[in-house]
Amino acid sequence: MKIIKILLTAMMAISLTAHAAPDVKIGLVLPFSGVFTSLGNDTENGFRLGIEKFANGTNVKIIKADSEGNPAIGLSKTKKIVFQDKVDVMSGIVSSAVLGAVRDTLHNSKTPMVVANAGNIHATGKDCSPYIVRVSFSNAQITRPMGDWMAKQGIKTAYVMAPDYAAGHQMINAFREEFEKGGGKVIGEVYPPLQGVTDYSSYLAVAKASEAESMFVFFPGSAAINFVKQYHDFGIAKDVPLYAAGFLTSPSYVQVQGKAADGIISSLHYLLDLPYEENTKFKQAYESRYNKPASEFSVAGYDAARLVMEAWNKADGDKEAFVKNLSNTSFKGPRSKLSIDPKTHNVVQNIYILKNRWDGEQIVQELIETYEDRKDAANGCQL
Ligand code: BEZ
Repeated sequence: MKIIKILLTAMMAISLTAHAAPDVKIGLVLPFSGVFTSLGNDTENGFRLGIEKFANGTNVKIIKADSEGNPAIGLSKTKKIVFQDKVDVMSGIVSSAVLGAVRDTLHNSKTPMVVANAGNIHATGKDCSPYIVRVSFSNAQITRPMGDWMAKQGIKTAYVMAPDYAAGHQMINAFREEFEKGGGKVIGEVYPPLQGVTDYSSYLAVAKASEAESMFVFFPGSAAINFVKQYHDFGIAKDVPLYAAGFLTSPSYVQVQGKAADGIISSLHYLLDLPYEENTKFKQAYESRYNKPASEFSVAGYDAARLVMEAWNKADGDKEAFVKNLSNTSFKGPRSKLSIDPKTHNVVQNIYILKNRWDGEQIVQELIETYEDRKDAANGCQL
């Protein structure tokens, strides 16, 4: 009798373990500290919401790690997740520098990765990989339309500013190319360090002294909050209007910037008020779950989870089919239709030009123009 009882208990334990084993293990590497903290939190929130919506009964285990937005730390956390936790697929990565650092590890270990933010152009250009797919944006994809749009408004000169790391230089280079193609001229530039700068006044003084007609910048996260407040306090908005990659006034923190963000025009792949049913549903679900507005970061997290789950569920356990499915997809989500370009594995999507306006109580973001179906050139990628 005693032996039967022991056997039954053991069998129950085995069946419980079998039931609890995940069907898919996902590594999520994001910055949960440092200048990108709010971006990492928003991306994780969107990703978890996406998993709930699109898992379709598949048992998912998420193993997350804090990259701190630092390439060396991001690399060691990625190695742990790939080689020790042996995940089936990875997602996340906010910083272009971190993406550059982990690229070889992912490629050589054949670990599929769905990039949920980092816009490093090389990851879907000269360093592209069959295993790396990006559902967020490329840095150049965001800022080219702004260069074109500003030139078309007749703006002749710009002073440019961005943090001194891969994304900063790539965003500015693409902006400059398009702005100068349209007849504008960049007449000065400066690249402050990404981490640790809280006072931009000396940089703003140089920008003002350049007598440029406009300023174009890229700053993300806590750097964006500081920059916008100081730009406002400096009192140069009338003389030098501010244009930006839209991460400067993300819905994640634009209400903290408040009136200081009034008048800033920028380009981005998402706007809270996009008039699509998918967006309305997503925004409502996000706000009621997390008690704050969605952002471009939470949308890309949500879409990354959708991409992973739909590709996984269609593959029926075949890992090669899963990798193929990741790059062979298109769907309509909160930011409108998007697809993955099989030639580069970068997303093809609309880019929106938007204006921040203070309505007396809060900032509203108004859509000015849509650049439809923006697709990057192959830039050396041969897939
Ligand atoms: C990047 O490093 O690629 C990046 C970070 C924050 C916002 C946009 C791009």
